[in-house]
Amino acid sequence: MNSYSSPATLKPLSIIDLAAMKQRGEKISCLTAYDAGFSALIDKVGVDMMLVGDSLGMVIQGHATTLPVTVRDMVYHTRCVSNARQRAFIIADLPFMSYSTPVIAAKNAAKLMQLGGAQMVKLEGPRIDCVSFLVDQGIPVCGHLGLLPQSINQLGRYKVQGKDRAAAEKMLVDAHQLQQAGAGLLLLECVPAVLAKEISSQLTIPVIGIGAGVDCDAQVLVLYDMLNIGTVKRPRFSRNFMSGAANIEEAINAYHQAVKQSLFPATEHSF
Ligand code: KIV
Repeated sequence: MNSYSSPATLKPLSIIDLAAMKQRGEKISCLTAYDAGFSALIDKVGVDMMLVGDSLGMVIQGHATTLPVTVRDMVYHTRCVSNARQRAFIIADLPFMSYSTPVIAAKNAAKLMQLGGAQMVKLEGPRIDCVSFLVDQGIPVCGHLGLLPQSINQLGRYKVQGKDRAAAEKMLVDAHQLQQAGAGLLLLECVPAVLAKEISSQLTIPVIGIGAGVDCDAQVLVLYDMLNIGTVKRPRFSRNFMSGAANIEEAINAYHQAVKQSLFPATEHSF
């Protein structure tokens, strides 16, 4: 059976639907999206969430990092995606320096929601101050721990996070604090699979993994990586779903099915 959406299911998923999926043990699929054409295709296949990621700075704009991406860019791409979406839940990234204080975060999150049509915003790091302020204003938030691409100039290079005991324990504490502050989802990027499994089982909110093993509640990949297109080398934790697919729609469906059946990520895509 494929899980292409039937007309009866074509209403936007909500955070309640995603929480219910975690509760009943149903894996949640997510892909990044940046424009209306891909948004419509991803939605048609039945992928549960679309993340308008600031990875667009690299895969769409051709920058070396996500740092040059502006709130204006994010609003533009989020609008393009939301214009063509019927069912998938839409998360939009707050870009670099757009949440330096809780008030600035709320102002920019409001733009992503009011002008862009996002249902939730994502911000990097254990920014409990911003998360609780946004949640108090009625703005749903997705936390992001592990590898934080907006901090690349502090990190020096993109690498797995939470490998030693102290870092792993801190990430577990940060995850609990984000949930406590009201985050509705948590994304873990480039985290050892055992740690991601522990965090996913301890939290009640759905945990999305990218390079974080198969035991997360949800999986996300950068669309251009899994379609094997673009300017940057595909990371080890991604997979070329175009291989063996007749067209892009088939590749997206192969990813969606692999996530739903816990066939992706495999050991070779995990740390
Ligand atoms: O910007 C992005 O695409 C992300 C990834 C972790 C999926 O945040």
